[in-house]
Amino acid sequence: MSNSFRALELAQGAIADLDLQLLRRKLRVTQSPCDTNATVENRQLKAFCSNDYLGLANHPDLVNALAEGAKKYGVGSGASHLISGHSAAHELLEKKLASFQEKHIPNARTLFFSTGYLTNLAAITGLARLTERGDLSIYSAKLNHASLIDGVRLAATQMNATVNLFDHTQLTSLTETLKKDTKSLKLIVTDGVFSMDGDVTPVQELLQIAQQYDALLLVDDAHGFGVLGEKGHGILEQEGIQSNRIIYIGTLGKSAGVSGAFICAQDSFIEWLIQKGRPYIYSTATPPAIAHTLLKSLEIIESDEGVKRRSHLNQLIQIWQDEMTFINWEKVSSCTPIQPIILGSNANALLAAKLLDEAGYWIPAIRPPTVPLGSARLRITFSANHSVDDLRKLITTLKKIEQEINHKANHD
Ligand SMILES: Cc1ncc(COP(=O)(O)O)c(C=O)c1O
Repeated sequence: MSNSFRALELAQGAIADLDLQLLRRKLRVTQSPCDTNATVENRQLKAFCSNDYLGLANHPDLVNALAEGAKKYGVGSGASHLISGHSAAHELLEKKLASFQEKHIPNARTLFFSTGYLTNLAAITGLARLTERGDLSIYSAKLNHASLIDGVRLAATQMNATVNLFDHTQLTSLTETLKKDTKSLKLIVTDGVFSMDGDVTPVQELLQIAQQYDALLLVDDAHGFGVLGEKGHGILEQEGIQSNRIIYIGTLGKSAGVSGAFICAQDSFIEWLIQKGRPYIYSTATPPAIAHTLLKSLEIIESDEGVKRRSHLNQLIQIWQDEMTFINWEKVSSCTPIQPIILGSNANALLAAKLLDEAGYWIPAIRPPTVPLGSARLRITFSANHSVDDLRKLITTLKKIEQEINHKANHD
């Protein structure tokens, strides 16, 4: 009997295609905690690629908090929140997260999820379920994260929502389409900080548009929470925004250094999601020890230590902006710890990542479909645990690698 069958042949063919297009991704195994010095496959590398912007993922106070949480609550929640998995630690965490946004979203309530991906699916499909089938228009920024895209796709296929994509750097077409929109519910969806470019969404303008056309504004601040605003409360704090039209989403596996995510919005939306948000209802609650650890993380984010970590990050960003210049490569304009360099072709991005690896750096090539076709890049991210010296050495290395690749291109 043949040990090959149709599905297996298709999978093998599809993987071979990915190889041909230089789009196959590879897992790399780390043997050290997430930090700026990483042991990867038994080699020491300087990592400039995680989303641990504040450098909290290996913070001793958080490591202790997790051990303390496990002693207090055990290691598993045992069930979904609505069955028996909702602990005092979850409840405290939700209250604390709501207090971060209370100045910005009046009467806000928060719901904690195990991941940002699930939060976005729950938020968008949950809102879509508020209407009769098809009576919702969603306006989604073209460069939104895949989890928002998937939430929007689910709302479109299952609830017949109409979907319009918009360019967040040019809002006239968004306004023009909204003007003619007769649907009873309208939802504008945007990343707070665009995850692959690092630029901040024009949240003030989007809110004005939302008010003018009676729309809701969903902001996924996965990369702004902890980093933006004096106290690290995120984009709404930084922009001084207050509105009950905002559905705010933050994730807790990036700046907060642990894992999980939350949605913060008016009480009725949250209550509706508890009743009808399928990704919330049908998934085991995150271990309470994680919620307990996150409480410590929020304490650090708001504290003087958090302020110092953000100020150091801003110093790194400033040095990068001042000192990193290229001959051919394109630097994206960003004032956040996400600082991409666009290389265009997959081959160039892979070559740059390989040369960086040989020089002792961990910065993977980011390729389509994560980024648009022809915009393969190095997504460099800073952590508060990087020193100024770390950054200056990286800048010197990158300049050398660009010259090397240019030289190679001119002589091939
Ligand atoms: C903008 C954005 N939203 C949501 C997520 C998903 O969050 P999580 O990793 O917690 O699932 C990510 C993760 O990379 C992200 O970049």
